[in-house]
Amino acid sequence: MCGIVGYIGNNAVEEVLLDGLKNLEYRGYDSAGVALNDNGSIDVFRAEGKLNNLYDVLAGVRARVHHSGQGIGHIRWATHGGATLDNAHPHKSNDGKLALVHNGIIENFETLKAQLQQKGYHFFSQTDTETAVHLIDDEYKQCGSLEAAVIRAVNQLKGAFAFCIMHQNEPDKIIAVRKNAPLIVGLGHDENFIASDIPALVGKAEKIIYLDDNELAIVRQNDVTVKNFNGQVISKRAEPLSLEPEAISKRGYKHFMLKEINEQPDIIRGQLALRLPDVNRPVVLEGINPAVLTAGIRRVEIIACGTSLHAAAVARYVMESLCRIPVSVEAASEYIYQPHLTDAQTLVVGISQSGETADTLTALKQARAAGARILALTNREDSSIVRCADMVLPLKAGIEVSVAATKSYTAQLMSLYLLALSIAEAGKTLPAEEILSLKRELLQIPAKLEEILSNSGEIQQCALKFSSFKNFVFMARGVNLASALEGALKLKEISYINANGYAAGELKHGPIALLDEHMPVVAVLIPGSQTYDKMLSNCEEVYARKARLIAVSPVEDLRQKAMFDTVLLIPHCREIFSPLLVNIPLQLLAYYIADNLGREVDQPRNLAKSVTVE
Ligand code: AGP
Repeated sequence: MCGIVGYIGNNAVEEVLLDGLKNLEYRGYDSAGVALNDNGSIDVFRAEGKLNNLYDVLAGVRARVHHSGQGIGHIRWATHGGATLDNAHPHKSNDGKLALVHNGIIENFETLKAQLQQKGYHFFSQTDTETAVHLIDDEYKQCGSLEAAVIRAVNQLKGAFAFCIMHQNEPDKIIAVRKNAPLIVGLGHDENFIASDIPALVGKAEKIIYLDDNELAIVRQNDVTVKNFNGQVISKRAEPLSLEPEAISKRGYKHFMLKEINEQPDIIRGQLALRLPDVNRPVVLEGINPAVLTAGIRRVEIIACGTSLHAAAVARYVMESLCRIPVSVEAASEYIYQPHLTDAQTLVVGISQSGETADTLTALKQARAAGARILALTNREDSSIVRCADMVLPLKAGIEVSVAATKSYTAQLMSLYLLALSIAEAGKTLPAEEILSLKRELLQIPAKLEEILSNSGEIQQCALKFSSFKNFVFMARGVNLASALEGALKLKEISYINANGYAAGELKHGPIALLDEHMPVVAVLIPGSQTYDKMLSNCEEVYARKARLIAVSPVEDLRQKAMFDTVLLIPHCREIFSPLLVNIPLQLLAYYIADNLGREVDQPRNLAKSVTVE
């Protein structure tokens, strides 16, 4: 996924663009660039790697670059073509008069590229984006109007594209285009903005216009006109930009990830206040009636990717236990290409923090075409997934800037627990007193999260002790198998340490061959669980292979057992809710190890906050 910005107004355009890109860095950081229309000619400045490198490039020429009123910018997560300077955006037409930035994938770019090369256009990159530049330029040379050229060109493109386009002959406008990739227009006083996502507009725009797919906006300093791809004017409502600058600041934390880990108690408190205001009343899920949601439904399929897929695995265990309905879980990238039984009696739940993950969107569109009822859980109520769903359950976790998902995962879990309780209440699949008891326990969760966070010093000590290891195993059983998988993902994606999660019972069937004194094992042990004793036996087997054991458990007595090098304590709670608590030490362990190793915690290499390509 990439981030694009545009600005037209009287402020110093390069400052506005760079600040916008800074707030979009979570979308990718392989290269960055801006195009400034300065006194009639378009200047393009690009840099490989992090945005700071572009600041350095501009610093060298800023004295030369006048404060002009029109510009576009880009921050890249490489898809077509490596993270090189040639492939950095913005890309320009051969005559240097047209510049464009792009987020998405143009699926038919090779065919169009060959046609354009036949016409004599020269390409200087391996990107799909450059095809769009020369196609628009070719149309412009025939019609002489940037708007008309863009409309003619976008009707020839297939795939996903959000563009900002400008031409030096038309310095009074920037054209923004949206198809299957997010793009919003920010309205200011005597200035207007374009961005891939809201954080780029915080503290700048006062109102925003969400473009929908197959729409373009002609953005002038004092006017915005939205049209469809047929050139017809569309009336759009401008909404107040409610996000405060504080929402995208670190608030004194070293990294966004640590800030977002520490926001979790309040986020869960907010969900419970909204959806479980009275334990003696049914769960309230913003406009979702559980009876309507499940009418005629015989099975549930949950589709997601990455961390969201781990939340799906917890949900399967919970929904089958509480709602007595068959649930299957599938990685979206697998669902798309395999036979499935999805039909009109299937409820498909799509889980996506960003709501823009291409695999998940494609899978949900397929499921909808098969007749399924679609429920989307997302943290971005303005995202594409909303348009793929019949009903939406927002996560209400606030903007999550760090690439590693933390607060959004916990918010997904809580939303899924409340969804399962709501369905169980409607379907009367549990005795009323059992449901009441479960609700009361959920209300205790925020305080228990705070208790764990207040003991983060122990976790930090553990991280210091284990930061030098090159491999980790995470093991658990039952509902916490998902916790083991998520804990391993968190560690590997921000520390680059090889970490893998296993069902503890599976270790003896092969993975145990990996174990020796160089392979720490993180084990989740929940008392009162039917597998607690089995987990203790698995820990004995691990200890016998000289592997260092880190336990995550409420059982303080484990500290007396020689086999445990460290015990990261969590408060007691029912096993079914324990992923909410187990997850916190594992997030912090990954964070402190990565920080000890000096990693780019908020922007790990090769990753982006949302993967908008399949
Ligand atoms: C999680 O830490 C990762 N950043 C990644 O696995 C992420 O969960 C996955 O790409 C799915 O993203 P989504 O929830 O926005 O769809």
